[in-house]
Amino acid sequence: MPSSSPLIVALDCPCEKSGLTMADQLDPGLCRVKVGSELFSAAGPGVIDKLHSRGFQVFLDLKFHDIPATVAKAVAAAARMNVWMLSLHAQGGHSMLAAARRTLEEVAGPVPLLVAVTLLTSLSPGDMKELGLPPLREQVLRLASLAHRSGMDGVVCSAGDATAIRSQLGPDCLLVTPGVRSPGNNLHDQRRIASPQEAVQLGSDYLVVGRPVTLAKRPGRALEDMVASLDVAGV
Ligand code: C5P
Repeated sequence: MPSSSPLIVALDCPCEKSGLTMADQLDPGLCRVKVGSELFSAAGPGVIDKLHSRGFQVFLDLKFHDIPATVAKAVAAAARMNVWMLSLHAQGGHSMLAAARRTLEEVAGPVPLLVAVTLLTSLSPGDMKELGLPPLREQVLRLASLAHRSGMDGVVCSAGDATAIRSQLGPDCLLVTPGVRSPGNNLHDQRRIASPQEAVQLGSDYLVVGRPVTLAKRPGRALEDMVASLDVAGV
């Protein structure tokens, strides 16, 4: 039974054992989980099966960015792992994104949701200048629009960009937001943060949360508290 919670817990763990130990402290009724390049590179596809057998839906966050043919084959391989959601870089351009969408049309049965990363939130205005790119917000909106036109189900964006993207693209675009912190949480290296309630109110459909849950003394409890804060706020 898929979770109705918008929370996706990032299993940013160095090996399969630590990833599964973390997952075992979480209730799959309260969240989905995200497997990124660290855990996937260390553990391989087997970890996806093990998370599925524990009842979790999995967001495979490998941010594909390559020539269209290569990305299409990678997306097909990920679809065969039955992941729930998959990420690509919108900067790969229309041909790459459209090839990813086309390849899923040939897959029988449920296919993963495709979400495009617009710009990494780690990029600063200085980085944009150095790369010869327009200001951050302008480029985020341009890439979100490209992703939408190219058949993506949604985009990964900061809570701060959610309202502008939602008003540009309308209701048919999933917004997946990292950088979520409840009041009192450590910010770590995140700069543009929002509380879970704020992110949902700003239009985010799914919230990616890592360290506030995974570094908590009791990760299961920290997750329950976040879910409860959303319920209390009625969002
Ligand atoms: O620990 P924290 O909650 O900051 O983790 C957020 C997760 O979201 C990490 O897995 C990080 O790689 C990911 N992420 C992010 N910013 C983006 C895209 C992904 O923080 N723009």
